[in-house]
Amino acid sequence: MSAQATAVGQPSTSAKKTRKRILTGDRPTGERHLGHYVGSLANRVKLQEEYETFLLVADYHMLTTRLQGLEEIERNIRQTVLGNLAVGVDPSKTTIYLQSLVPEVTELFLYFAMIVTVPRAQRIPTLKEQMRDLDIAQPSYGLLGYPVLQAADILMVKGDLVPVGRDQQSHVEITREIAREFNDRFGPVFPVPDALIPEIGILPGTDGRIKMGNSLGNVVNLLDDSKTVEAKVMAMYTDPTRIRATDPGRVEGNPVFMYHDFFNPDTAEVADLKDRYRKGSVGDVEVKRKLATAINGFLDPIRDRADRLLRENPRIVDEVLHQGTARARAEAKQTLHELRAAMHLDYFGQ
Ligand code: TRP
Repeated sequence: MSAQATAVGQPSTSAKKTRKRILTGDRPTGERHLGHYVGSLANRVKLQEEYETFLLVADYHMLTTRLQGLEEIERNIRQTVLGNLAVGVDPSKTTIYLQSLVPEVTELFLYFAMIVTVPRAQRIPTLKEQMRDLDIAQPSYGLLGYPVLQAADILMVKGDLVPVGRDQQSHVEITREIAREFNDRFGPVFPVPDALIPEIGILPGTDGRIKMGNSLGNVVNLLDDSKTVEAKVMAMYTDPTRIRATDPGRVEGNPVFMYHDFFNPDTAEVADLKDRYRKGSVGDVEVKRKLATAINGFLDPIRDRADRLLRENPRIVDEVLHQGTARARAEAKQTLHELRAAMHLDYFGQ
């Protein structure tokens, strides 16, 4: 991958947009895991070849549901960025920046807050989901505004395409409404972006739950060492009704086999294991050992890239963020300049 050539390459800063632009984001929740890889990272690495890509680390967004333990954020930001670099997100193709270092986004958020009605924001399904999942009795003003801030992220760099999971589609929808409403009222400043929703299967947690996360303790991290991977795989949830290796087992919906399908390139081995599992002629231990080997094979180049990048430049993450943020900030200033002119808020012609 080309990230090796220089410490930090930079996308060209030509003001003219020649390629369509992508804006996507990660909340800085810490280490990237296999679920991130399947859900967004793999796609991101491909898309950066075709589109001019912006990737933000959404630390403001994180504050909408978390105001404690903030001393961890810095580490989480680093791990989030390093995970992206490790899978091949290339700073010479993708502008990686930290949201809170581009405070212009909050100004854009304020203008957009004037356009969106309270009932419209309350209708966004993720609000209820977050309140339910996190046991929040009353949403803060900031949580209500979560999708409006996301719209500001997207429109600040004039993103054309937004790769997000299906759960975030409603956020792109409100972004489209905001862009149209703004353009109708004040003139054509913003593109109306499209969501780019990948057709992917869903990877469950290692405990079989749909929700995955480091805080749930059910993930294999991309930078886990091979022993840790092995231990996590050997402890994976499998068919709970199967007691002995001679019992016929269920393959469908069995997380061990879902992981095999995603990460084991030896399809003949997987087919054989499934066949013997159904018949009750293979033990869980063998199936899991082979899965651990497959996952470790998959992770080797990712771990190697992270090691190499850090060896070559221990400050790589900071430098990537520093340069990416400068670039994003220049875009933000330009967009705000156009917006303020359109709204006649440029009193001193700024
Ligand atoms: N909301 C996204 C998430 O929860 C993170 C995010 C913030 C984002 N701003 C964005 C994603 C803009 C796409 C575009 O993961």
